[in-house]
Amino acid sequence: MIQSIVAPRQMIIGGGSLSRLGELLKQFGLSRPLVVTDPWMVSSGTVEKCLEPLRAAGMTPMVFHETVPDPTDTVVAYGVSVLQSGDFDVLVGFGGGSPMDTAKAMAILAAAPSGTPMSTFKVPFAADKGALPVVCVPTTAGTGSEATRFTVITDVARDEKMLIAGLGALPLAAVVDHELTRTVPARTKADTGIDSLTHALEAYVSKRANPVSDMYAERAMRLIGPHLRRVYKDPEDAAAREAMMLGATLAGLAFSNASVALVHGMSRPIGAHFHVPHGLSNAMLLPAVTGFGLNHALPRYAEAARCVGCAASGDADQLAGAKLMEELRALNRELEVPTPAAYGIGADKWNGLLPVMAEQALASGSPDNNPRVPTTDEIMTLYSEAYA
Ligand SMILES: [Fe+2]
Repeated sequence: MIQSIVAPRQMIIGGGSLSRLGELLKQFGLSRPLVVTDPWMVSSGTVEKCLEPLRAAGMTPMVFHETVPDPTDTVVAYGVSVLQSGDFDVLVGFGGGSPMDTAKAMAILAAAPSGTPMSTFKVPFAADKGALPVVCVPTTAGTGSEATRFTVITDVARDEKMLIAGLGALPLAAVVDHELTRTVPARTKADTGIDSLTHALEAYVSKRANPVSDMYAERAMRLIGPHLRRVYKDPEDAAAREAMMLGATLAGLAFSNASVALVHGMSRPIGAHFHVPHGLSNAMLLPAVTGFGLNHALPRYAEAARCVGCAASGDADQLAGAKLMEELRALNRELEVPTPAAYGIGADKWNGLLPVMAEQALASGSPDNNPRVPTTDEIMTLYSEAYA
């Protein structure tokens, strides 16, 4: 089978690597950056860590800091107007998944005629064109967005999280510096860490998995499995943070080349309608959705359990699969993941939106990559199972 494998042209990885950002841009002949970030990065002064190396390289970076969690089409359009009002040759996405995804979407939208809605680019459209290159610097471990050909943007009018895929969303380069995650709150570390684990696991069991994505996914799971609890419990555990940061990027490379599956397909509508953080809504669904597909790809799930470290190399597939289910439930307990009900989502609203959420989940295409492809009714049953 022919595989198409994509990755950023350059990735600088390691503690302190952010100091190389200016040199990295220069290497590509880029010198006029617009840094895309969020308000907290500016008010906390954290954005200076990104601006200093750019200034040291003789550049005068400008900052667009109006990005929002679950980035919206309206913010992306506003960002494009800022972009087009200046003379920029590169976007630097600095922050968690939201600023990085906003920067990618701005590049895609800016390449289209004025007034084109962001929804034009949602899958199955091939969003291969970007008006200018994007360089990503993640500050969480993480969405892996620094290494993927995807961005997820909310259509405000329809309350829909749109998956946008193509080379226009693939960063030119990334700087992956785990020193940036030291001050990330424990809750965010847990949510983003489970997101990374979900990326690796879904890429591994995806119908579109291939030898290259497997390599990334297996290594990511070996890094994330033993370190996820550690970063949640101890912010000073630098070795664990380093492992999680690399694991998140490798998981991004895995799913960028194999796609995510049913967890992400069902997670996006929860984010769109109830504004649950992305990693957290993944975690809410992960045990139920894994149980749904387990026996349809048992050898894969079993090997994932061995990579994560919750099953021994000699465990038979059935036992390893059972251990994976137990591990996912234990992770949710230990990382204090609430059910949607415990999160405060009312049963009436949840149940009322089930048909719309199921329809949006299926329309994203992600469920088609799952080892067991659900019907609309089965998706609604899984939402119900995860609720309380
Ligand atoms: Fe994700």
